[in-house]
This record gives sequence, structure tokens and C-alpha cells, in this order.
Amino acid sequence: MTTDLMEKIVSLCKRRGFIFQSSEIYGGLESTWDYGPLGAELKRNVKEAWWRSVVFERDDIEGLDAAILMHPSTWVASGHVEGFADLLVDCKGCKKRFRLDHLKGKKCPECGGAVTEPKKFNLMFKTHAGSVEEATNLVYLRPETAQGIFVNFENVLTTSRQKLPFGIAQIGKAFRNEITTGNFTFRSREFEQMEIEYFVKPGTDEEWYKKWIEERLDWYVKFGIRRENLKLRPHAKDELAHYAKACTDIEYLFPMGWSELEGIANRTDFDLKQHSKLSGKDLSYFNEETKERFTPYVIEPSGGVDRAVLAFLVDSYREETVKGEKRVVLGLHKALAPIKAAILPLLKNRDGIVTMAKGITRELSQDFKVKYDDTASIGRLYRRQDEIGTPFCVTVDVDSLSDKKATVRDRDTMQQDRVAVDKISAYLKEKLRS
Ligand code: GAP
Repeated sequence: MTTDLMEKIVSLCKRRGFIFQSSEIYGGLESTWDYGPLGAELKRNVKEAWWRSVVFERDDIEGLDAAILMHPSTWVASGHVEGFADLLVDCKGCKKRFRLDHLKGKKCPECGGAVTEPKKFNLMFKTHAGSVEEATNLVYLRPETAQGIFVNFENVLTTSRQKLPFGIAQIGKAFRNEITTGNFTFRSREFEQMEIEYFVKPGTDEEWYKKWIEERLDWYVKFGIRRENLKLRPHAKDELAHYAKACTDIEYLFPMGWSELEGIANRTDFDLKQHSKLSGKDLSYFNEETKERFTPYVIEPSGGVDRAVLAFLVDSYREETVKGEKRVVLGLHKALAPIKAAILPLLKNRDGIVTMAKGITRELSQDFKVKYDDTASIGRLYRRQDEIGTPFCVTVDVDSLSDKKATVRDRDTMQQDRVAVDKISAYLKEKLRS
């Protein structure tokens, strides 16, 4: 894959309303992005697919939606105040700032000038709670959603009456003052995570770690990422985060090369023990059957929503030639496609056709996100929908008025079925389920 593909994706996202630069009218804010009408739907569908697979389809995982702002001691306990930092150097010539680990040698990569000694730079965004800005009311924007789960371990355990092994899942915003940015939404300063903290009995952690790696890899394949574009990369001991005993990244072949999509870590009992120590609250677990008390180990599958969205866009993008004409298709999985069906009247000035097409739109909109479009010729309308990944187009034509049927066209096969108007909803429900 090439960066040329990234340019095509960035351009499509802007042109068709998937993703815009944040605060664009002011010249933009670096590494922050806004999801437009189609992007908002796609992102929602990715989160929904994840939530369904981990919270709905399993009985051992509970959902949570914790606050972004947390007690500042949280970040002391987790090690982020002390350790969530990059080593940075400044170029003495051009004054640009770089991460030490991104430097090849001791010179500035931009102008070749000498660089300063490295300084520690904490990646957490700080702000103040309340009306006065002072050290005592300093709070952080969470750099990971995980800690909201750990501090609620006891609350969820007792209210849900779960027993080990069990997990807590959460989707939410996280913030990091990243120094190295670029590659579109891949590394943003504000992003969303989909995280599970899966609590297990110590000693069973390695088995669960392996299971979760497979489970999460399968999820990306199930929703359309080609297996050959995914690989597992176990971390070397010297790159493990301070809390982890082991970690494996699921990497995707992004246009800029293999890069992390999701990480699955064995966080041991580090976080629960740290929070027990700093809060004074016992966060151990009592096994009623064996009468044992212990602090659970934690396996953490942690994925980025924005990186998943980008991977789904990249992987589904294809260009084809059909009857001598170029066709751009986003072959998104049906569950992820922002719009499930477009309703296209063949003649926009024929009352009967328009009335029927609008009626179909109204009915389908009870179940799916659909779009009525009469602003171009049918060929252009099809191409427009192919480019944004709409799995089905429903066309109402002159014959529809007599036979009460419409043509349903499949995005991928371009095959057309004539379907009775009052059966279109059932037809699409069946097709979208498969
Ligand atoms: N709780 C563990 C944790 O936060 P991480 O590897 O730092 O681990 C997990 O982050 C996932 O969050 C990554 O695999 C990635 O998908 C996403 N992520 C991390 N930093 C990001 C950033 N700056 N922009 C977009 N996504 C990011």
C-alpha cells in the first residue's frame, strides 16, 4: 500500500463528509478531527458492532460509561503522573521539537542542527475543576479509559453479581498531548478507545491473554478486514508499559506501513493493587466456593475507535473498471456502512414516482439510515452511493407505478432484483442480517 492511497482516503473523507479537519474555518487545529454526517454514522456503527460483540453476545462482560475527569490520585496510582511521558529534544537551530526515540543520531532530522539534552514531557492534558486555577484543583483529561474501569471494579462486581472471570467494557474519549502527529486520524490528540478489562484468577492469565488475542483478531476479520492485512506483534520486554507483563499489538497494514490498531496487554494485578494502596479501599476478590481471597489479574484488549474506522475505510476502498468506466467502491461490511439503502426516483418530476419513492424512504427510515436522492442521473447516483459504501440502491421507475415493484441493486455484485414495494423492508432486513 502507498501513501497515495492515504491521499485518496483523506480526499474522499473530506469530499463526501466522513471526516473534516477540526476548526477548519480557523485554519484547523493540528491532530484533531471532526466526523461529518457519514463519518458519524460509520463511527457509531463500529462502536455498535464492538459493543454488541462484547457486551450483548457474552454474559461475562458488563458495560460502563465512566467520567472523563477523575480524581487526580487516580493518575498517581496508575503511574501516569510519573511515567506517562516522552523524552523530547529541541533543535537549537530551527527550534523544532522531536521525540528522542524518533531521532536517528544526535542531529535534527529537519535542518541537521544540534539538539538539546532530552527533557521529560508528560502527555496528559491538564485543566482545573472549579472557578479558581490552583494546584489543589488540578485535574487531567484521561489518557486512557481503563482507569475509569479499575476504580469502578468493586461497584460493578457487587451490582452485577458477576463472578470471576468477568470483564468490564467501555467506549469513550481519551486525550494525549502527542508530539509526533500526522497520518490523518491515526495519531490524534483527542480520540476514542474501546477497552475491556477482563479480570481473571492469577495463574489463568496467560491462557486468557492468548484467548483474547485470537478473539480480537477475529473481530476485525469478521467485519471485513482482510486477514493478510493484519498481523500480531508481541512486544519485546524493553518496550512493555510499566504495568504490563506481556503485550501483543494487532497491527494493520495502513498506507504508511504496519502500525498498531489494538493492543492486548496482561496488566497483572498492578492497577487494582495500586488503587487499593492509594485509596485505602480493598479491591481484592473473594471466591465463595474455594474461600480464597486474591487480587485478580487483568487482561486488557484496548482498541482505538478512530484507528479502526481508518482501517475499515482503507481496507474497503477499491477502484474498478465497469463497462469502460471507473467505479470507486467502499466495500464496507453491511453492518458498518453509514447508509444502508439509497432510494432513487428515476424521474424526479413524475408525481407518482416521487410519491412512491418518498413512501419507501419513510418506511425504511423506521429501521435503517437511508437516503433519498434525486439530484443527478441514475448512473451518477449509483456511483455516488458506491463511493460511500451504501450496500443497496432502490430505484423507482415508470413500471413501478403499474407493477408496484422497485429495483434493488446490490453494491458489490451490481445485480438487480425486482422486489414488491411492500416487501422491500423485509428483503433488506434479511440481506443486511447476513
Ligand atoms: N489502556 C491501554 C492503552 O491505552 P495504548 O496502546 O496506549 O493502550 C490503546 O492505546 C489503543 O488506543 C491503541 O491501540 C490505539 O488504537 C488507540 N490510540 C492510542 N493513542 C492514540 C492516538 N494518539 N490517536 C488515536 N488512537 C490512539
